[in-house]
Amino acid sequence: MFGIIGLGGVGMLLAYFLNNAGYVPYVVTRTRYGRYLIKFGGGEYEVRVRLVDKLPSDVKYTLIAVKAYDTESIIDKVVNIPVVFQNGIGGVELIRERLGVGYGAVITYGVTRSGGVAEVRGGVGEVILPSSVGEVADALKAGGANVRVVNDIEPYRWLKVIVNAAINPVTAILRARNGVILEDSNAKALAVAVVKEGVEVVSRLGIKLPSDPLAETLRIAETTRNNYSSMLQDVLNRRRTEVDYINGGHSD
Ligand SMILES: NC(=O)c1ccc[n+]([C@@H]2O[C@H](COP(=O)([O-])OP(=O)(O)OC[C@H]3O[C@@H](n4cnc5c(N)ncnc54)[C@H](OP(=O)(O)O)[C@@H]3O)[C@@H](O)[C@H]2O)c1
Repeated sequence: MFGIIGLGGVGMLLAYFLNNAGYVPYVVTRTRYGRYLIKFGGGEYEVRVRLVDKLPSDVKYTLIAVKAYDTESIIDKVVNIPVVFQNGIGGVELIRERLGVGYGAVITYGVTRSGGVAEVRGGVGEVILPSSVGEVADALKAGGANVRVVNDIEPYRWLKVIVNAAINPVTAILRARNGVILEDSNAKALAVAVVKEGVEVVSRLGIKLPSDPLAETLRIAETTRNNYSSMLQDVLNRRRTEVDYINGGHSD
């Protein structure tokens, strides 16, 4: 019933929850490793998947966990209903434009990955899904995920984009931990300006955010103050960032 495209940090976490719910998902990924392990809540678990070149046609939901900039490369691999677990704006929109269907999801678990080994860090995360894909929500919940189902996912996607847009690039440019947003007045002013711009964008789109984005940005900066943002980690590791989808994202 479930297929996954992209077996990185998020893909492994989704597969882990599905394993716990009794599913062994079909997975299409790029670099294959001999085994997949996930460290979560003090334990270490083998992630069981069926690696394939092409998802079988009886897959009902394709869970997409590639980086936003890789979305184009996987469109022809999607089977039936795509559910996109990405940060930023642009990936789901591209899928909807090409396939006529596509649901966004928000994931706030923090997962780092090296090869076939993933580690879930930080406090309890959450997976927010639209009610239209209730079967996905039920399966992930049965597997132990902290799941919230909402009628409209767009306000939640945009809230996360605004927070990411305010914290990630500022910390990446300054090569500083997330706490710099609270400690350095110039960094804070920049983050506040980004939040204001984001609020302007969502208001023009007619989207009502579920909570105050500035308070949320400062809250996340506080709870993750000792962390390096994913964008900073990408910069330090000379990997491509998702900045074009987070700060440059657009929605028609
Ligand atoms: N990690 C987190 O904590 C977290 C939390 C919330 C949201 N997100 C978002 O979730 C998305 C995925 O992030 P991630 O951290 O899981 O990234 P990741 O660890 O880099 O995983 C991406 C996976 O997609 C694979 N891939 C790339 N192109 C592909 C293709 N054409 N066909 C099949 N597989 C392909 C990659 O293969 P290779 O191994 O060959 O690169 C990799 O396995 C991003 O949008 C990110 O912003 C991440």
